[in-house]
Amino acid sequence: MEKTQKKKPKNAISIKSLKAKGRISMLTAYDYLFAKILDESGVDIVLVGDSLGNVGLGHRNTIPTTLTEMIIHTQAVSRGVRNAMVVADMPFGTFQQGKKTALSSAIDLVKAGANAVKLETAEYLDEIKSIVKAGIPVMGHLGFTPQSVNQSGYKYQGSRVKLVQDARKLEKAGCFAIVLEMVPEKLAKEITKSLKIPSIGIGSGKKCDGQVLVTADMLGLYPNPPKFVKKYVDLGLSIKKAVKNFIKDMSP
Ligand code: KIV
Repeated sequence: MEKTQKKKPKNAISIKSLKAKGRISMLTAYDYLFAKILDESGVDIVLVGDSLGNVGLGHRNTIPTTLTEMIIHTQAVSRGVRNAMVVADMPFGTFQQGKKTALSSAIDLVKAGANAVKLETAEYLDEIKSIVKAGIPVMGHLGFTPQSVNQSGYKYQGSRVKLVQDARKLEKAGCFAIVLEMVPEKLAKEITKSLKIPSIGIGSGKKCDGQVLVTADMLGLYPNPPKFVKKYVDLGLSIKKAVKNFIKDMSP
């Protein structure tokens, strides 16, 4: 009989307990193939980000990403994951229209295979609370929030005080972790220290409890990654070379 290496799958409680240790790893996946590779590599959280819209579907930003798209891609990702926690983004428009829509959208994502949902807001606390009340873990997202790009451009526009207060509000509302995107390192450290739940940074320095990147950015697959991204490999180049060799092999 084949021996399968199944560890205990990660969940909101085990991720929270990693705060003391730091080093929570989160990477994005939108399909079965990448989800399986990330999971087998030992990542703690696989994020079905709404960056699906720009990175996977070629839109200019994340705003056009729909709930239906997120459901289909969450299904695919969850089929490839055995050990990591699967977190799915609630796309723009799913939590701004009241608690009922927010809760039913979150339930759809959990039925698709997500273990938790992520919301880019500190304004819709009642919606967050009703999702948590339904037994669905919620990850917050503060700092630069790509879904607000039409209002704020590509940076965080609020004050230091507001960011600290928002992080506390999200913790109080029941979030099990918070993404801090493009927050200055000193401030990210201050917020991280002030919270009992883990912070997961992206472009926010090294002092957060974990780090998240868009996988296509760190693998060199996406043409315009943000400046803060470390490219761990240039897969785009390797794929082009392989494809050129494949074409060459056919020449007489
Ligand atoms: O959608 C996404 O990929 C994200 C990450 C950038 C954190 O929210």
